Amino acid sequence: MCNSLRELCYNVPDQSIYGELTDGSIAKLVSYVKQFSSVTILDIGSGSGATLCAFAKHMPKTSCDLVGVEISQIRATISRQIIPHYLPPNAKKWLIIEDNVLTWSALPPCNISFSFDTTFTKALMTHIVTLQLNCPELQFVISSKGSRYYDTSLWSIITTVPCKLKGSGQTISFHVRIKKKTLKH
Ligand SMILES: C[S@@+](CC[C@H](N)C(=O)[O-])C[C@H]1O[C@@H](n2cnc3c(N)ncnc32)[C@H](O)[C@@H]1O
Repeated sequence: MCNSLRELCYNVPDQSIYGELTDGSIAKLVSYVKQFSSVTILDIGSGSGATLCAFAKHMPKTSCDLVGVEISQIRATISRQIIPHYLPPNAKKWLIIEDNVLTWSALPPCNISFSFDTTFTKALMTHIVTLQLNCPELQFVISSKGSRYYDTSLWSIITTVPCKLKGSGQTISFHVRIKKKTLKH
């Protein structure tokens, strides 16, 4: 039931290409993030919500709060049905916000920000990076877009991981970055 519901996320008529990383790729990405006793993970463009759950699953000793923001009403609705089926025991709270992150003036407090941002526009990326820099709790950013957006004086790259996509088997590189300092206006 969940898989077919989840497959609907691939068929939403919008401009973007939908994709999800394999569980193994998410496990690799998580292994580069320092483990704390509790974290809030934000997925910008959270799709079916399954990726957020997979992040928490691979940090079993960490209490995880999960927050997703999703512009597509259909995907946000589906994700609210999907998440309870995939939620691991260490994921304490979850919230899916149906919204366009481009309209946000601040991120919710979070320690790890993930985005599958290969199709995000320059304007959207520039806005997201400013929000990430201004989020005091945020330490780690996992995303595919590179140093064109993430200034090396503000971010250190920890690693670059070739990640596989579900279905197509295509490989896309994701970078794990750590913030050096918060942007001050
Ligand atoms: C490639 S999918 C990734 C889904 C999920 N993060 C994952 O990795 O499984 C990217 C998602 O970003 C969403 N998105 C695109 N622009 C957005 C925006 N401005 N605000 C919020 N979500 C957005 C799309 O609707 C799509 O569901």
